[in-house]
Amino acid sequence: MAEFDFSALTPHERYNLVIGLVAPRPIALVTSMDAEGRVNAAPFSAFNYACVDPVLVTLGIANRPDARDPQSGLPTPKDTARNIRVRGEFVINVVDEALAEAMNVCAIDFPPGIDELAEAGLTTAPSSRVNVPRIAQAPASLECREVTTIEVGRSRIIVGEVLGVQIRDELIDPMGPYVRAEELHSIGRMNGAGNYVRTRDAFFKIPRIPYADWQRRKGVEP
Ligand SMILES: Cc1cc2nc3c(=O)[nH]c(=O)nc-3n(C[C@H](O)[C@H](O)[C@H](O)COP(=O)(O)O)c2cc1C
Repeated sequence: MAEFDFSALTPHERYNLVIGLVAPRPIALVTSMDAEGRVNAAPFSAFNYACVDPVLVTLGIANRPDARDPQSGLPTPKDTARNIRVRGEFVINVVDEALAEAMNVCAIDFPPGIDELAEAGLTTAPSSRVNVPRIAQAPASLECREVTTIEVGRSRIIVGEVLGVQIRDELIDPMGPYVRAEELHSIGRMNGAGNYVRTRDAFFKIPRIPYADWQRRKGVEP
């Protein structure tokens, strides 16, 4: 077994190993808004839901690797983290196969003032519960309010409460309501070397096992 002691590695080496092992990860294509009302979009895969009552999600956003604020000398947050701090709101747009290339364009380190959404060929549509718009081409979006932002080292963990979701009609099974997961065609990020996975035709089922069934399987009458 290869073994790596993280105290002997550079941050980038640690990052490479961790994201290769915590995979596949969902991708949040986050829309946020600056103080002047300009909309920003960027993907984050340090993303998951944290709990469901209340429904909280977390985003892990690193500071800009090389930049520092010229006045304070402090590390510069990425635009998404800065905007969420300013507005207290954001939208997580679900990334499906059709959105994959545009999502990657949104991750380009554009100079300030460039409209990432326009560069990516994306447009926005209004959200219902927050002022930040969603991405019109996304199959679903989660409207979030910032609960808190935790600063740790050179990163921020943003905790958001999901106030509501918008989702294409055909992706909802009203029985649950469930999301028709096989139809969503969401993608996941793997090791950071440009590797992603599709979920199309990749499903298999493992039903939960009631304890009584488990006992029967082992020859014990419940
Ligand atoms: C699929 C994907 C996932 C990413 N996940 C993260 C992440 O979890 N945290 C992070 O800080 N950067 C992540 N990045 C890099 C950001 O998207 C990138 O730095 C972006 O330019 C930030 O934009 P902003 O300054 O407009 O917020 C990811 C990039 C890609 C392509």
